[in-house]
Amino acid sequence: MPEPLNLAALPVRRLNTGEAIPPLGLGTFGSDKYGPREIADAVEGAIRYGYRLIDCAAVYQNEAEIGQALRRVLDEGVVSRRELFITSKVWNDSHGPGQVLASCRKSLADLQLDYLDLFFVHWPFPNYHPPGCSVDSRSPDAKPFSPAAYLEVWRQCEALVDMGLVRHLGMSNMTIPKLEAVLPHCRIQPAALELECHPSFQQPELFDYAVAHHILPVGFCPIGSPSRPERDRTAADVADTELPEIREIAEAHGVHPAVICLKWAVQRGVVPIPFSVKPPQYQSNLRCAAVDPLTDAEMERIRQADKNCRLVKGQVFLWPGASGWEDLWDEHGTATWAQP
Ligand SMILES: NC(=O)c1ccc[n+]([C@@H]2O[C@H](COP(=O)([O-])OP(=O)(O)OC[C@H]3O[C@@H](n4cnc5c(N)ncnc54)[C@H](OP(=O)(O)O)[C@@H]3O)[C@@H](O)[C@H]2O)c1
Repeated sequence: MPEPLNLAALPVRRLNTGEAIPPLGLGTFGSDKYGPREIADAVEGAIRYGYRLIDCAAVYQNEAEIGQALRRVLDEGVVSRRELFITSKVWNDSHGPGQVLASCRKSLADLQLDYLDLFFVHWPFPNYHPPGCSVDSRSPDAKPFSPAAYLEVWRQCEALVDMGLVRHLGMSNMTIPKLEAVLPHCRIQPAALELECHPSFQQPELFDYAVAHHILPVGFCPIGSPSRPERDRTAADVADTELPEIREIAEAHGVHPAVICLKWAVQRGVVPIPFSVKPPQYQSNLRCAAVDPLTDAEMERIRQADKNCRLVKGQVFLWPGASGWEDLWDEHGTATWAQP
């Protein structure tokens, strides 16, 4: 067992409430590859090593096992609850009246917690698909984005803060037009925005927009999700860990290319949430935020390596009549929804 990391060496990020959040967290979506038990063991091992931020979600179907791991480290006094920063997310099938509270209560019960540090609206659509379904699968009930419907979900989230069940709120898989439509109507502004973010998909405009609105960018698939299932791959996808810029910088630092993706994210001001169940991987992932930073020239070289290559396209959330996955991301011209 390696020595736990010296946490004082890690940079601290601040949310718009002034509260601290760790600069890097552990993802918990095992996709088809890793089961709940393995992921819960990784959560426990990661916390013993020094992780404090764990990114959970109801739809990952492993919160009950993660809750047992959290209970063990809390009961043993490895950490106190206040030292941990635990997120969860309401899934698309629970946007209706009363369902957000029910979802939050279920996540809290499964995770064996009294409150969540951050609660995300996982996707801005109420469009449900069964986990693991084909990318060609379409729901006849699927709907395009509606600011009014989203704000009804957000009002339910705001009530969770009022009730003390949740400390901060977050949005996920949003675009600038969608944020523009809803932010002026939010009583409680989001503290964080979860967005896909890796060297070949940097989303500079969305990143800048979030920072300008005091919303912390939390980066998912920070290594380019190299273990995602075949069904989620297309011929045009770029592998971040194969980019020559990333490989050469990794060689210069004597680390795996995955680690360079994470260093770049942390230094840019994104909070990456890499997934791994392998102790040497998840340990090096957190450690890299504390040691041997990239130079300004290396940061600039990676900035120029952007390929605008979105990996999580979200096809299964498309509604009848949509022309392609780009519609989910408002890429076909001006968004045409009614204002709330
Ligand atoms: N809000 C959303 O809609 C959303 C969407 C997607 C993901 N997420 C969150 O983001 C998290 C991360 O995304 P992700 O799991 O798709 O992708 P990722 O973190 O980019 O990639 C994870 C994979 O990278 C490899 N890896 C990790 N550390 C490594 C290291 N040090 N050296 C070499 N390889 C390493 C592992 O592959 P092997 O398993 O082959 O070792 C691991 O499975 C998820 O777990 C989830 O919490 C959120």
